[in-house]
Amino acid sequence: MDILKTKSQMREWSKNKKTESKTICFVPTMGYLHQGHVSLLEKGKPLCDELVISIFVNPTQFGPNEDLDDYPSNIEKDLDLAQKAGVTAVFLPDKKNIYPENFQTEVKLQYLPGFLCGKSRPIHFAGVATIVTKLFNIVMPDIAVFGQKDYQQLQIIRQLVKDLDFNIKILEGNIIREKNGLAMSSRNAYLSKIQRKSALCLSKSLDLARKLIAGGEKNPVTIKKKIETFIEAFPETIIEYVSLCNPENLEDIDRIEDKILVALAVKIGRTRLIDNALINPAQ
Ligand code: PAJ
Repeated sequence: MDILKTKSQMREWSKNKKTESKTICFVPTMGYLHQGHVSLLEKGKPLCDELVISIFVNPTQFGPNEDLDDYPSNIEKDLDLAQKAGVTAVFLPDKKNIYPENFQTEVKLQYLPGFLCGKSRPIHFAGVATIVTKLFNIVMPDIAVFGQKDYQQLQIIRQLVKDLDFNIKILEGNIIREKNGLAMSSRNAYLSKIQRKSALCLSKSLDLARKLIAGGEKNPVTIKKKIETFIEAFPETIIEYVSLCNPENLEDIDRIEDKILVALAVKIGRTRLIDNALINPAQ
């Protein structure tokens, strides 16, 4: 497994692979890897000759009062997991290499960031779109894999690839959960034992939505209210949003007829967690 610490090294590596007609699959991450990240690597592994992971905590996607300075890190463990998952190259740049002095350009989508997480994190998706654009240009992959866990991010990347004509196939990976239903996240590391119990309110809310929809409930407002009441009963929870929306454009829906996205963001103490599910009333 090669470890490449600068963008010129990474680009050179990818260029060499391409001259050998090797195909490249890419999984961008911010590190502190867990089984969710590993599942994306496992999905990509059989599809290409080379498997590249990037580990870079991207400062431009964090707001001023967010957890950039506390973001968990364990590079040794990450490298071990990457190696075991069959990664052939790790891109591990530092901030100066990615954002040199006088960096000025931002990639910003006009519509999709206006919903869900984008409402409370106004600069987040421009930061994500900018770093992913840069990573795509540096790594030059044929395929890139993103998790459904960050559903809005995934939709934004799909749109970005379409709008900017990247010749990269975007694949999605299912949400990987702990046995108790908690969606895996690097940020789960912030939770105390009691907060971990409260954090189950997210996945349980999705179960509640599934149950209500299977029971014939068609009114999204009714479901939203029931979920909010349900979450408020858990200690240390502050609801940021509960949304029942169109999975393509993320707009709120009036009535549940087709497949919908149920997405939520809840603060457990100071830790902001997200989760979502696609629910089809016909199933
Ligand atoms: P990060 O939060 O490290 O996530 C990297 C990838 O792992 C994302 O595609 C995310 O959706 C996926 N992922 C996280 N938890 C998952 C889970 N439980 N199951 C399946 N996939 C999961 O997302 C980012 O980093 C950054 O925004 C990034 C795209 C790297 C840009 O900086």
